[in-house]
Amino acid sequence: MSENWKEIKDIAVKWVEDAGKMLKESLHNSLDIKTKSNPNDLVTEMDYKVERFLTENIEKRFPQHKMMGEEEAGKNIGSTDGILWIIDPIDGTTNFVHQKYNFAISVAVVKDGVGKIGIIYNVMQDEWFTAIEGEGAYINGIRLPMATSVDLPEAIIGLNGRWLAREKRIDDKSLHEMVRKSRSVRSYGTAAIELAFAACGRLDSYISFRLSPWDYAAGLVLLKEVGMVVTDFQNKQPSLLEQSTILVARPSLHEELLSYVYNHNGFNH
Ligand code: IPD
Ligand code: CA
Ligand code: CA
Ligand code: CA
Repeated sequence: MSENWKEIKDIAVKWVEDAGKMLKESLHNSLDIKTKSNPNDLVTEMDYKVERFLTENIEKRFPQHKMMGEEEAGKNIGSTDGILWIIDPIDGTTNFVHQKYNFAISVAVVKDGVGKIGIIYNVMQDEWFTAIEGEGAYINGIRLPMATSVDLPEAIIGLNGRWLAREKRIDDKSLHEMVRKSRSVRSYGTAAIELAFAACGRLDSYISFRLSPWDYAAGLVLLKEVGMVVTDFQNKQPSLLEQSTILVARPSLHEELLSYVYNHNGFNH
């Protein structure tokens, strides 16, 4: 059966738009905030509410589709066979709680392991990053150009500064050296937005030591459409079922940046 991806994308955008309104409205009220794996790993009732809102809609409209979400949905998904929705109801929960700014809803639709639709909604800026496989990536409906070349001295790298503080390597190329050679680094606290920024050229690279499929599944669809290179630190395709390291870069930059992170095991938070 061949799906109408454009129709599915439009339906998903409508749901995400409604979920975005819920998030904006919630900022006027006090939030119920809890921690998960550690004291810095926050979750609010809105994370659950948005995920449930999206999964209930998907279930009703597409009962044969599978779902995986950060908070509750599809904890036992063991394969990417069939159609799978991968959802991060709020990417950047810490920003949502502390800054009320720079957070996103990230939704991907994957068929048999291939990303078909990517939607990243930068809620407070009302900025939409969307892509359908083979049909280009868009920002607010305007097609994004293909990624061009940039050398490291002119490159802005998206990177969480906390990783740098923890790096102990002395025998190999260090991330500190990479950062010194770059033009600058930026850290927005939301992987989905950082991937979208890499897709639209605001970042020339984005590097993260540990992410989950819901952080990057939608971003991968966008990035592929503009010809950005995305791998893990072993130069392999990131998994859509398990956690992964992530190295995104312009084609001219990827090999060089890989030499700085290759064989890095990643860190735990
Ligand atoms: C987090 C953000 C953050 C990244 C973390 C993620 P969450 O997602 O994307 O930028 O550094 O690894 O877990 O928990 O806010 O959805
Ligand atoms: Ca989280
Ligand atoms: Ca996330
Ligand atoms: Ca999240």
